[in-house]
Amino acid sequence: MKIGIFDSGIGGLSVLYEAMHLLPHEQFIYYADEKHVPYGEKTKEEIIGYVDEIIQFMIERDCKAIVIACNTATSAAVSIMRKKYHIPIIGMEPAVKKAVDLYGKQKVLVCATPITVKGKKMLDLVERVDKDHLVDLVALPKLVRFAEKQEFNSDEVLAYLKEALSKFDFKEYGSLVLGCTHFNYFKDSFHKLLPQVHLLDGNLGTINYLIKNIELEDLESSVEYYYSGQRVLGKELQRIECYLKRLEKMKDIGK
Ligand code: DGL
Repeated sequence: MKIGIFDSGIGGLSVLYEAMHLLPHEQFIYYADEKHVPYGEKTKEEIIGYVDEIIQFMIERDCKAIVIACNTATSAAVSIMRKKYHIPIIGMEPAVKKAVDLYGKQKVLVCATPITVKGKKMLDLVERVDKDHLVDLVALPKLVRFAEKQEFNSDEVLAYLKEALSKFDFKEYGSLVLGCTHFNYFKDSFHKLLPQVHLLDGNLGTINYLIKNIELEDLESSVEYYYSGQRVLGKELQRIECYLKRLEKMKDIGK
């Protein structure tokens, strides 16, 4: 059986990337909801509808577990979907606890989409782990659009980040949590602006949790890609290859 991984777009490829390394004998379906990206600017109800449709799509294709490789969709829909479906549904959790545990002598900046930043899941998480009030939150919705256009380190990206982060005094921060899977493509730009700050994401934690919840198989590794239900084949796969190459480049930045 397969493992389904999905995101509003290409951000979740960073989770797939991790999964392919840790689970070399599994088969994956990757679904990017390109018709509806960005989720971070939609309503919660709209996101629940999209997620429901994708989970049904994956169940019809015999997935044994589903990873919501999107912090925004997790925030809006994971608890409802877990009540509705009876296969393991793994969500994303921004690495806030890890940041506080490892670098909690200094402040922690968490960036995500507006839905994730304002969502109850994030507020509960911060309340649970941020005993010393070190955590600040910031929404960076434009990064999702830049990532979808494959614009990763242009002058526009840097200017946007500079402006959006201008109210934070970088000297006070020890870590930055990438609370949106699309943000993994910008590690070099974040690192340029905040060279002394550690960059953390929740991808490894998510895949480790997936591993605990599935029966492992010994299959020949493969991935089927879909854009909103349409199989991605032939030349179109080149776009996905570009993202995977970019992730390879980003992987050790800010560790
Ligand atoms: N990649 C997504 C996340 O992790 C959402 C981006 C979006 O569609 O706004 O939050």
